[in-house]
Amino acid sequence: MTFNPRLDQLSDYPFQRLAALLDDLPTPPGGGLVMSIGEPQHAAPALIGDTIAATGGWNRYPPIAGTPDYRAAVAGWASRRYGLPDGMVDPARHVLPAAGTREALYMIGQVAVAADPAARAPLAIMPNPFYQVYLGAAVMNGAEPLMLPAGPDTGFLPDVAALPREVLDRAAMVFFCSPANPQGAVAPLETWIELVRLARAHGFLLIADECYSEIWRSAPPPGALDACRELGGSLDNVLVFNSLSKRSSAAGLRSGVVIGDAAVIARFSRLRSYAAAGTPLPLLAAAAALWADEAHVDDNRARYQAKMDAADRILGPVLGRERVAPEGGFFLWLDVGDGEAMTRRLWAEAGIKVLPGRYLTRDEADGSNAGARYIRIALVHDQPVVEDALTRIAALLAAG
Ligand SMILES: Cc1ncc(COP(=O)(O)O)c(C=O)c1O
Repeated sequence: MTFNPRLDQLSDYPFQRLAALLDDLPTPPGGGLVMSIGEPQHAAPALIGDTIAATGGWNRYPPIAGTPDYRAAVAGWASRRYGLPDGMVDPARHVLPAAGTREALYMIGQVAVAADPAARAPLAIMPNPFYQVYLGAAVMNGAEPLMLPAGPDTGFLPDVAALPREVLDRAAMVFFCSPANPQGAVAPLETWIELVRLARAHGFLLIADECYSEIWRSAPPPGALDACRELGGSLDNVLVFNSLSKRSSAAGLRSGVVIGDAAVIARFSRLRSYAAAGTPLPLLAAAAALWADEAHVDDNRARYQAKMDAADRILGPVLGRERVAPEGGFFLWLDVGDGEAMTRRLWAEAGIKVLPGRYLTRDEADGSNAGARYIRIALVHDQPVVEDALTRIAALLAAG
C-alpha cells in the first residue's frame, strides 16, 4: 500500500504533543483543570435546542449551499455588524455554510491552489504562531507554507505588506487571523484595507479567519468586510470565515460560515457538493436563529470581559504590567521564558493544563522559535474557576 507523502509534512496536532510532554507526570488530584483547549465552557443558548425541536427535516439531505433563510440570516448579521450597504452581501451568491470553519479552512486550499507541476509551488502565507489547519490546507494541496513571525516586533500580527512583490506574486492564499489565536491581537482597519488591496494587486485569495470577532474587550474588531466596504463594496479575492463556536459557545453545533467572493464561493460550493457533509436542516435553522440574535452574544462577551479583567488584576502585578489580557479572543499568551518547562510545572505543581507556544509555532530555518517562550491559557471556564486558576498561576510565576 502507498500513502500520500504530504501527510508526513504535518506535525502532530498540538494536543498530541502536549499529552506526550505531560505523559510521565502523575494526574493531579481531582483530575486537574484543562485550560489548554479553546473549547467554550459557557452553556450554549437554549435557542439551539428550542429551534431544533421545532424544526423538521431530519429525513432530508441538506443542500450544500444551506437554505435561503440561513443565508439571509448570515447576510443580515454581516450587514449589521459591519455596516454594509444593502446588497453588498448577496445571500444567494456570497454565503456558504460549513460544518465548522476548521474543515472549510482546510478544504479551501483545494480551490485556491493551482496545481501546475511546471510552476514553482505556489505559496500559502500564514502567521507564526498559527492555527494548525492552515498548514494542512497548504501542504496537502502542494503549496509551500511561508510563515511570517507574529510576535511583539510586529504587534503580534504578521506583516504581509512587508513582503517583496515577487513573493506576493507567488502567493495563492494568505491566511490572516484577527482577533488572532493565540495572541488575541486585533488588526486595525488600515491593515485589512492593505491586505485586500494586496490580494487584488497580486491575485491571491485573502482568507480572513475571524471566528473570534465577537469576543472583544473595548470595541468590535474591524474585519475584512469593513475593508471591502471602504474599497467600494466588491468582495473580490476575499473570503471571511466565521463561526458559531465562539460567538455562541456552540462548538458542538459544528456551524461555520464562509462569506465573500462570488466566483470563489461558486467553486467552493461545487467542490463541497463532492466532499463535504451538508449541515442538517434543523441545525441550519438553529444557526440562522443564532446569527439573528445578539442578546446571547452580548452576554457571552461580558463573561469573557470579566475574566480578562480578572487576568489583568491577578497576573498584572506579578508580570509587572497593567494589561495582561489582549484586546480580542479568550486566550492569554504569556511570555514565561520556557513554555514547555512552565507547562510541566503548572501541571505538576498547580494541576493546570496549558499549551506551550512551541506547539503552535514552527521553528525558523535556524532552529530558533520565538513562540517557545510562551504559554497559551484558555479562559473558557466560569469566573470563579478561572480566578482560582489565575491565582494559582500567579503564585507559581511569582515563585520564579
Ligand atoms: C483561529 C481559529 N480558526 C478556526 C477555528 C475553527 O473553529 P470551528 O471549526 O469550531 O468553527 C478555531 C477553533 O478553535 C480557531 O481557533
